[in-house]
Amino acid sequence: MSGKTDASVFWDQPVLGIETSCDETAAAVTVDGRILSNIVFSQTEHSLYGGVVPELASRNHVRKILPIVRQALDEAGMDLQGLGGIAVTQGPGLVGSLLVGVSAAKGLAMGAELPLLGVHHIEGHLFAGVLEHPELRPPFLALVVSGGHTELVFVSELGVYEIWGRTRDDAAGEAFDKVAKLLGLLEEGQVTQGGPRISALAAGGNPTAFQFPRALMGTGSFDFSFSGVKTSVLYQTRELSEEERRDRCADISASFQAAVVDVLVHKTIEAAIASGVERILITGGVAANRCLRGEMEHTARDRGLQVFFPTIKLCTDNAAMISGVGSFRLARGERSGWDLNAIPRGLLPGVKDRVSSR
Ligand code: KG4
Ligand code: ZN
Repeated sequence: MSGKTDASVFWDQPVLGIETSCDETAAAVTVDGRILSNIVFSQTEHSLYGGVVPELASRNHVRKILPIVRQALDEAGMDLQGLGGIAVTQGPGLVGSLLVGVSAAKGLAMGAELPLLGVHHIEGHLFAGVLEHPELRPPFLALVVSGGHTELVFVSELGVYEIWGRTRDDAAGEAFDKVAKLLGLLEEGQVTQGGPRISALAAGGNPTAFQFPRALMGTGSFDFSFSGVKTSVLYQTRELSEEERRDRCADISASFQAAVVDVLVHKTIEAAIASGVERILITGGVAANRCLRGEMEHTARDRGLQVFFPTIKLCTDNAAMISGVGSFRLARGERSGWDLNAIPRGLLPGVKDRVSSR
C-alpha cells in the first residue's frame, strides 16, 4: 500500500499504532514508513441513534481494542517483543474513547518495556499523505476534511504545524451528512453515508440550478463555515412540493456539492499561494469526493501546484497514520511519560494556532 519513504524520516524499528478517538477501533504496524498491517473496526451500533453515542463508543473500544491489536500484530507477523515502540492517539476526540486507547497503549508498553508516544490525531491525518507519497515533503499545505474536521494546516517541516484555518461550525463532511438527511437520502440507520449519496446523485445534476452561499469567501480569512449552506438548502427546498423536491434532488445535490467544493478549493489554493508552498495534501473522508478531487487537481495545475490524495483507506480514520507519526517522533528520541493522558480538545505540542493569534 505504501511506498518506502526517506529512511531518515522514520524509525527502522516496528511501531504499533493505536487509534480510538471516535468510533473506529484501529491498530496498525509500520516500520520505516512501510505499512505492515492496518486493521480498522468501524462500530455500527451508533447508526440506530443517528449519531455517535460516546458511552457506547467507549464500551465498544474496550471490547475490541485487544483483539484488534492482536490482529494487527499477527498480520504484521510479530509479537509485542518484536516492536520498537507503541504510539497512540492522545487527542483530539471523545474523552472516553481516547482513554481506552491510551490505557491500552500504556499497559502494553509498560508490560513489554517499550517506549510510548502520544500522538495528535491531526498530525496522523497529515502522515497518511507522508507515508504514501514519498515525494510529498515539506513545506506543504494540507486540507484535513472529514465528518469531524475541516482544517487548513501549514507544514513548514515535519513536526512543525500551523493551523491557518478551521471551521467555525459544522465540518464539511458533517454538512454533507446533514443535507443528505434533510433531503431524505439516507436509509434508516445511516449517518455518514451522506457524502457518498450526495456525490452519486450530484453526478446527474446541474451544479448551477440552485444558488447556495459560499461562506467567508473573499474575506481574507482561511476559516470555513458550513452551517449557512445547510440552512439555505433547508429553506430553498421547503418551498418545493414533495414531487418537485424528488424531481430536483440531483440538482440540489449538485448545487450544494458545488458550493462546498468551491469554498474548499478556493481557500486551500489561496492558502497555498499565501504560504508559498508548491505541494498540497488533501486528506480525511471528504477527500473521497470526486468533484473535490477533480476541481482541486484542475485548479492546482493551473497555478503550478501539485496535489496529493492518500488512498481512501488512509484518508479515513486509521492507525497506520498514528504509527507513522510514532515512528517519526520515536526516531527523534521523543518519548511520553507513564502519566500520558487523553487530551480531548486543544492544541498539542508542535501545533501552533495561527487562527487564534491573529
Ligand atoms: O474520515 P471519516 O471516515 O470519519 C471522520 O469524520 O473522522 O469521514 C467521514 C465523512 C462523512 O461525513 C462522509 O459523509 C464524508 O466523510 N464522505 C464524503 C464522501 N465520502 C465520505 N463526503 C463527500 N463526498 C464523498 N464521496
Ligand atoms: Zn479523523
